[in-house]
Amino acid sequence: MTDLFDFNPPPPLYAVMGNPVDHSLSPRIHTMFAQQFGIQLDYRRIHVDAGGFGQAVDGFRATGGQGLNVTVPFKIEAWDLADERTDRSRLAGAANTLSFKNGIIRADNTDGVGMCRDVSRNVRFEVAGKDVLVIGAGGAVRGVLGPLLGKHPANTVIANRSVDKAESLAELFACRGSIKTDGFEQLVGYSFDLVINGTSASLQGELPPLPEGLFNAGALAYDMVYQREHTPFLRWAAEHGAAHLADGLGMLVEQAAESFYVWHGKHPDTGPVVDTFRRGRGES
Ligand code: ATR
Repeated sequence: MTDLFDFNPPPPLYAVMGNPVDHSLSPRIHTMFAQQFGIQLDYRRIHVDAGGFGQAVDGFRATGGQGLNVTVPFKIEAWDLADERTDRSRLAGAANTLSFKNGIIRADNTDGVGMCRDVSRNVRFEVAGKDVLVIGAGGAVRGVLGPLLGKHPANTVIANRSVDKAESLAELFACRGSIKTDGFEQLVGYSFDLVINGTSASLQGELPPLPEGLFNAGALAYDMVYQREHTPFLRWAAEHGAAHLADGLGMLVEQAAESFYVWHGKHPDTGPVVDTFRRGRGES
């Protein structure tokens, strides 16, 4: 006979939704964080077809889901779906973190803080007073611009294939700091201390048409995309004078850490988690 007092409730349910999502590292990252605090959780990957995001979220909530990470291409839909939005998610116009409590959907965006923490804590690069070039003007860049400008770079330039999109972003963030905008060909003759690739070109194995001479001495090239091999941008940067290279692994782990904090109120130690994945790739 089953003893009623032996009943263990299932661990709280979390997930990442996206398309594609099969290779997402989020379940492993959140499980490692949870182990640091002895927290039990069940974190899944959920593949969602185009047009099916709202229904997938409803289904997830109905089965007791407590929090969701949202990745490409659903971050704007996630934001639209929410009843409440944090200031940083409002500024980003997109959500990568949803929390479900008392029948309310709360949207947050931890991408920007994740990138800035990676740059300062893991890469140990000081943004304050530096000349920064951001390449791209889509959702990914919008998500990180607020926290980046909050680090007080000396000059910030956004370069994009479609210059009008860069101009719209500069207007949107004018209250946070002055931003200059350019097309790629107008970058000739300018150089920077930090060059961030926020385009989706890396995902297609492509490289934005960047001019030579972009990197100042000691400059950092940072790709927001994480892939097992270096992206075309990082390979190009290494050949064209960047002193330091950083891929999106640290950002991925740091944004996850901030989501973990949003859900559990605890700050995990990210260093060992980044190290685990780097070792798994054969890096020291
Ligand atoms: P995300 O959410 O990943 O930012 P997005 O909003 O569609 O996706 O934005 C993609 C960004 O990558 C845009 O800045 C896009 O440039 P355009 O605005 O001119 O389209 C940029 N991008 C994508 N592929 C590119 C390529 N091959 N070369 C240069 N820029 C590229």
